[in-house]
Amino acid sequence: MEGKKVTISVIKADIGSLAGHHIVHPDLLATASRVLAEAKRKGLIIDFYVTGVGDDLQLIMTHTKGEDSPDIHGLAWDAFKKAAQVARDLGLYAAGQDLLSDAFSGNVKGMGPGVAEMEIEERKAEPIITFHADKTEPGAFNLPLFRVFADPFNTAGLVIDPRMHEGFRFQIMDVYEGRVVELSSPEEMYDILALIGTTGRYVVKRIYRKTDGMIAAVVSSERLNLIAGKYVGKDDPVAIVRAQHGLPAVGEVLEAFSFPHLVAGWMRGSHVGPLMPVAQRDAKCTRFDGPPRIVALGWQIKNGKLIGPADLFDDPAFDETRRTAQIVAEYIRRHGPFMPHRLGPEEMEYTTLPQVLEKLENRFKKVETHTGK
Ligand code: 13P
Ligand code: 13P
Ligand code: MG
Ligand code: MG
Repeated sequence: MEGKKVTISVIKADIGSLAGHHIVHPDLLATASRVLAEAKRKGLIIDFYVTGVGDDLQLIMTHTKGEDSPDIHGLAWDAFKKAAQVARDLGLYAAGQDLLSDAFSGNVKGMGPGVAEMEIEERKAEPIITFHADKTEPGAFNLPLFRVFADPFNTAGLVIDPRMHEGFRFQIMDVYEGRVVELSSPEEMYDILALIGTTGRYVVKRIYRKTDGMIAAVVSSERLNLIAGKYVGKDDPVAIVRAQHGLPAVGEVLEAFSFPHLVAGWMRGSHVGPLMPVAQRDAKCTRFDGPPRIVALGWQIKNGKLIGPADLFDDPAFDETRRTAQIVAEYIRRHGPFMPHRLGPEEMEYTTLPQVLEKLENRFKKVETHTGK
């Protein structure tokens, strides 16, 4: 099956969780697994893995239907719907949170679930990493993916591997306007950074190797709050990254997460905190519902089968990163309700500011200003 096309689909949703926004209940995992096992038996998908990261239910599937397949999205929707019913029966918190519509119309995009999909020609050995984050947003991947695919101080292969030396093309999505732009690294590196530094708006969506156009990475880019027009939970993102043989080595991909950078999405989707890389068993957000977590699962794809996973951040080599994240968490928490710990008003997913302003409107008094107006 080498050279044959296979699609990897990671589709996730928070459809209810145990003890607030903490973990996915095992009965939800079992329900979703039964739905996908049946689809595998019928030949709709080649393979699957169901898991939970924090309070997000994760479906990892392989198939030959390509990206945006109504069959595959329909299958995921069915698994989420059935699991959401179990969540309701169990009285789990925020049951059905990310299922914004009752009517499925062929594609889960824009309906709540987060989606990262990649159709690949399977190489002789095909190492991939799936990333699963909780309490943050898609823009959280901007900094680490820039470092993996554009920063030679992170990725030695950009300098010393001839297959990577030309660099990578970044497809960047403007999530406010729903449009994309493609920029080329290293030539347009400063333009790339000018956009993706605004993590709440410009999101790295896809990355391609320039020598041959090979797809190397894809990130989910749904922003639930924009979709719903009101707060319905954040958009805890997922990503798929291919590695090795003329792409960044697995260790180069993971190296970018050794810096616990500040991301949006902590507590009520309205605070900034450090992104902590953890083993899957530690993807349980407690302190102030955080700090935000990221899990990396390592796979080999063989004839479309998912071999793995390896829990890649389950390594003492990331202990110091986690310790730094704890120190940063402690530091930034001291700001309480002050920015920049609390997000700016336009980014907050809950806000009482309009009500407060309305209540105080009559108590605001004009003052003389230096401009003389
Ligand atoms: P490949 O070129 O086979 O991916 O090997 C690179 C590597 O893993 C060195 O760390
Ligand atoms: P989730 O997006 O993970 O459901 O978290 C919601 C929240 O606001 C936790 O404080
Ligand atoms: Mg939740
Ligand atoms: Mg979550």
